[in-house]
Amino acid sequence: MLYAKEIFRNDMEACVELDSNTICLWTKKQWEGEFKKKGAKFFALFLFKKIIGVCVIQLVVDEAQLNYFTIKKKYRRKGYGRYLMDFLISQCEKFNLRKITLEVSDINIVALKFYDTVDFLTVGKRSNYYRNGSNAVLKEKILKNK
Ligand SMILES: CC(C)(COP(=O)(O)OP(=O)(O)OC[C@H]1O[C@@H](n2cnc3c(N)ncnc32)[C@H](O)[C@@H]1OP(=O)(O)O)[C@@H](O)C(=O)NCCC(=O)NCCS
Repeated sequence: MLYAKEIFRNDMEACVELDSNTICLWTKKQWEGEFKKKGAKFFALFLFKKIIGVCVIQLVVDEAQLNYFTIKKKYRRKGYGRYLMDFLISQCEKFNLRKITLEVSDINIVALKFYDTVDFLTVGKRSNYYRNGSNAVLKEKILKNK
């Protein structure tokens, strides 16, 4: 059974584990910090009650900054990323947010293709933005006003 829902601090360990097996963006301490941040929201995709994907947004006025989005490796390319993104979009529309923004490295071809598929538009670039010297592509999706 597949479903997505908002998660909280009690699911942090699953987030840390997923992250350490995928993109290693945040340490356990950083995840703790994220869960304490005002305006940070966490959503997870569950398959048979196990987390297989996580996304994290930061609410800034009427925008959601997408700071984290990952699907567990063995479940990729099966439509789960799109499912979690559709859920995130529906939640953001419920909160009456105006848009979702994100930054992605220009060498992350898979993520760029994914965000194109779910209709994020490129709105800018930051040169030499990441530690590996790659550029950041700034993307956004304007939401439907309810
Ligand atoms: C990006 C990511 C979330 C996509 O999740 P996913 O579950 O594999 O994506 P989906 O199966 O829903 O794919 C949706 C569409 O995205 C595109 N896509 C996804 N993976 C792709 C790949 N490996 N190559 C090319 N296109 C791809 C395709 O257009 C796909 O549609 P299609 O399968 O009908 O062709 C996943 O690859 C991931 O977790 N990557 C590592 C984390 C990451 O880079 N996050 C973004 C950082 S900003």
